[in-house]
Amino acid sequence: MTTTHDVIIIGSGAAGLTAAINLAQDRKVLVLAKGALDGGSTNWAQGGIAAVLDAGDSFEAHVEDTMVAGAGLNDRATVEFVVSEAPAAIDRLAQLGVPFNASEDGEQFGERWHLTREGGHSHRRIVHVDDATGHAVQVALLKAARANPNITLVEDLIAIDLITSRHGERYSGDGHVWGVYAFNKKTKHVDALLGRATILCTGGAGRTYLFSTAPRGATGDGIAMAWRAGCRVSNMEMNQFHPTCLYNLEVKNFLITEAVRGEGGHLKLPPGVPGGGERFMPRFDPREELAPRDIVARAIDHEIKRLGLDYVHLDISHKDPEFVKHHFPTIYARLLDLDIDITKEPIPVVPAQHYTCGGVVIDLDGRTDLPGLYAAGEVSESGLHGANRLASNSLLECFVFGEAAAKHIRAHWDDLPAPPPIRPWDESRVTNSDEEVIVQHNWKEIRRFMWDYVGIVRTTKRLERAQHRVALLAQEVDDYYGNFRVTPDLIELRNLLEVARLIVRSALHRKESRGLHYTLDYLDTLAEAVDTVLAP
Ligand code: FAD
Ligand code: SIN
Repeated sequence: MTTTHDVIIIGSGAAGLTAAINLAQDRKVLVLAKGALDGGSTNWAQGGIAAVLDAGDSFEAHVEDTMVAGAGLNDRATVEFVVSEAPAAIDRLAQLGVPFNASEDGEQFGERWHLTREGGHSHRRIVHVDDATGHAVQVALLKAARANPNITLVEDLIAIDLITSRHGERYSGDGHVWGVYAFNKKTKHVDALLGRATILCTGGAGRTYLFSTAPRGATGDGIAMAWRAGCRVSNMEMNQFHPTCLYNLEVKNFLITEAVRGEGGHLKLPPGVPGGGERFMPRFDPREELAPRDIVARAIDHEIKRLGLDYVHLDISHKDPEFVKHHFPTIYARLLDLDIDITKEPIPVVPAQHYTCGGVVIDLDGRTDLPGLYAAGEVSESGLHGANRLASNSLLECFVFGEAAAKHIRAHWDDLPAPPPIRPWDESRVTNSDEEVIVQHNWKEIRRFMWDYVGIVRTTKRLERAQHRVALLAQEVDDYYGNFRVTPDLIELRNLLEVARLIVRSALHRKESRGLHYTLDYLDTLAEAVDTVLAP
């Protein structure tokens, strides 16, 4: 089936819904999600959103903290733009009904919200809704989107590939993007969804790694689709590992928010090893538990490998139990279910992949390299995060760039041509898959070797091994994709592999250690910070 809309937005998280709500002031928008509408990372965000809202804080300090965490690879103009837009973004969310925690004692100084603290921030600057901020944001945005007659929300539609001018009935090579081919999980057919503009808001690629805090759908689809269509991608080697994911053999991706350390939690060695029960971060960085994430994650990785541990401990049991329950009700309840009372005992934690800093190159209006195609949120590389994202800057990026892309489309509507006649998806030469086991096996294999060879600490030899594995798997996956009907798992596998290839290529390209890219073969940081930009 082919349908035509004003604008197509792929993704219903913070970036996609922000763009949709703004566009819907005068355009009709189709928003698609590959699973449930709240199935992206946004719904799982815990800590909060960074913004300068305290009289003692300043835009300059937020900019500086972002640049320090990003190891100088950030684009200063982007950082300044996002930081200065942050207070207005928080106001818009509050107006939409996000129930941010109110300031406990700051009202008299004009502070409206309670601000928590996270690693790398020189001030308290994180607004939050308890320890489940993302869920509150997702609920408020979905409520506003559902109430808007100009927004159509469709779940279970998996974008496969962008429709460009080469899919037109008459060939034109200008690369214009006219929408997307998407697999409809209900009808099992591929629809062509057309619009004058398309915004990629598909989130990150955490599932490229065996252990990740990201939900099941974070398979880098948007990055892979944009790359195949002809967009540049940048800094794909910069994968952020969150220091504190719960270590539990059954519950594999439960995050313990950085705010636990922000509110006084300590990282300790578990009992039974030399130094057991003692804090170790003071040995690694003067900022101790509140050093930027790359430093804390590497310190934990180092201690785990040095002592042969399965995990380290995160301990907040020295704080008043009421304070802990009040600030972290979700974590308290979830861990109590697992027989861990965080008011009395430490939490076993390990680092896990958490955020994709690299992505599709965009400008300050959210424009990609291709006419008609925009991107916002974790799928993109705007220049905000550089070599390492500062905590709680990513939801902020979604709100700022979702808004910027929507405003640009609305302001330039008359310059955007209507889509030409497009060829429907051709299934005439493929059959049903005969061996699903190949898809399942390859999924697991990619995630395993990415974890082992392209993780927190890298070497050229390990990266070359990964490159070799990618090349072998690419042959199999291309062959499979060329011969069989698409399925959700096959679509994701193809993207996962594409993204793994981009990460490995970028990591091999960078001959230094900077931020999240740490390699034993090039320990120094070069004087000049240069983006790794790959062009198709
Ligand atoms: P997402 O919210 O991930 O949404 C992606 C959307 O794209 C989904 O709707 C999905 O269905 C859709 N999609 C993907 N592929 C396709 C496809 N092929 N076809 C159709 N639809 C598709 N950041 C902060 O700033 N503060 C925090 O406290 C914080 N905590 C976090 C905690 C956790 C556990 C995690 C995983 C991340 C956290 N982050 C946090 C990061 C932040 O949540 C994400 O960067 C942000 O939510 C990404 O939003 P997004 O709109 O770009 O994508
Ligand atoms: C967290 O709550 O620790 C996550 C914050 C973030 O990823 O920005």
